[in-house]
Amino acid sequence: MQKSLLILTGHTQGIGKAILDHYLKKEDIQILAISRSKLDIESENLTQISLDLGDLMILESQLAGLFPHDHFEKIILINNAGWIGEVKPIGELGPAELRKQINVNLLAPMYLTNAFIKAYKTTSAQKIICNISSGAASKPVSGWGGYCSTKAALAMFTLVAAKENKSQEFKFYSLAPGVVDTKMQEELRSVTEADFPDLEKFKKYQEEGLLASTELVARKTAYVLENPNLFTEVIQDVRNVQLA
Ligand SMILES: NC(=O)c1ccc[n+]([C@@H]2O[C@H](COP(=O)([O-])OP(=O)(O)OC[C@H]3O[C@@H](n4cnc5c(N)ncnc54)[C@H](OP(=O)(O)O)[C@@H]3O)[C@@H](O)[C@H]2O)c1
Repeated sequence: MQKSLLILTGHTQGIGKAILDHYLKKEDIQILAISRSKLDIESENLTQISLDLGDLMILESQLAGLFPHDHFEKIILINNAGWIGEVKPIGELGPAELRKQINVNLLAPMYLTNAFIKAYKTTSAQKIICNISSGAASKPVSGWGGYCSTKAALAMFTLVAAKENKSQEFKFYSLAPGVVDTKMQEELRSVTEADFPDLEKFKKYQEEGLLASTELVARKTAYVLENPNLFTEVIQDVRNVQLA
C-alpha cells in the first residue's frame, strides 16, 4: 500500500490534537508532528519533533532536513500551531510578545509553506497545504491587533501561493475553524474586559454550548482535504462544511 504523508504543527492539544487523533486511526498515513512539547503516544506512523516555532533561527536550521522524500501518494502540510498572543489594545502591546506572535502565527507557517513547495514541487504526489486561519483574518477585533494581522497576512500568503501553483497536484487552503472549545478560548475568557471588549460574548459562547468540538472541526478539516474537488476556493470556513 502506498502511504501518504501528513506534516502537522501544533499537534499536542486543541484542534491539532484532534486532527492528529483522526489521522492516527488510518494505517496508510505517516505523520510528522511539530510542537514544543511531545505527547506520550507510541505509533510507528508518528514522528514527533520538538521545536519552538517562535524561534525562527532553529526552524531555519532544521528546514532542509524536515521533509521526507519517500514515494508518497499524497503529501499534506497543516500549519495549525497558533497563539492568540497578548490580548491588549494597540499602544499597550509588548514588542517581544508581538515578535513571538508574528513568528509563530505568520513567519513559521510562511517558512514551512515555502520549504514544502521547494521540497515537493517536482514530485508527482498530490500536495495540499492547509494554513489554519480564523474569522479574525477578515474582521477587526479589539484587543486582537497582532492576532487579526497575522491571520490576515497568512491568508494572503496562501492566496499568492495558490495563484503561483495552479497545477492539478497542488491545492492550497486558508481554513477558518470557527469558535472551538480549546485552551485558546480558555485564555481569552481569562483577560479583562478593558483589554478585550468582546469578553462577555465569548463567555456566552461557552455558557450556551456554542463552542465547536475539536473532534468535529478535525473531521470537517479532513473532509475538505480528502475532497479537494468539492472545495475549489482557497478561503474556506469549517462552519460551511457539510459532512457527507
Ligand atoms: N480555538 C478557536 O476558537 C480558534 C478559532 C479560530 C482559529 N483558531 C486557530 O486554530 C489553531 C489551533 O488553535 P487551538 O485553539 O487548538 O490552540 P491551542 O489549544 O492553544 O493549541 C495550540 C497548539 O499549537 C502549539 N504551539 C503553540 N505555540 C507553539 C510554538 N511556539 N511552537 C510550536 N508549537 C506551538 C501547541 O503545542 P505546544 O504548547 O506543545 O508547543 C498546541 O499544540 C491556531 O492557529 C488558532 O489560531 C482557533
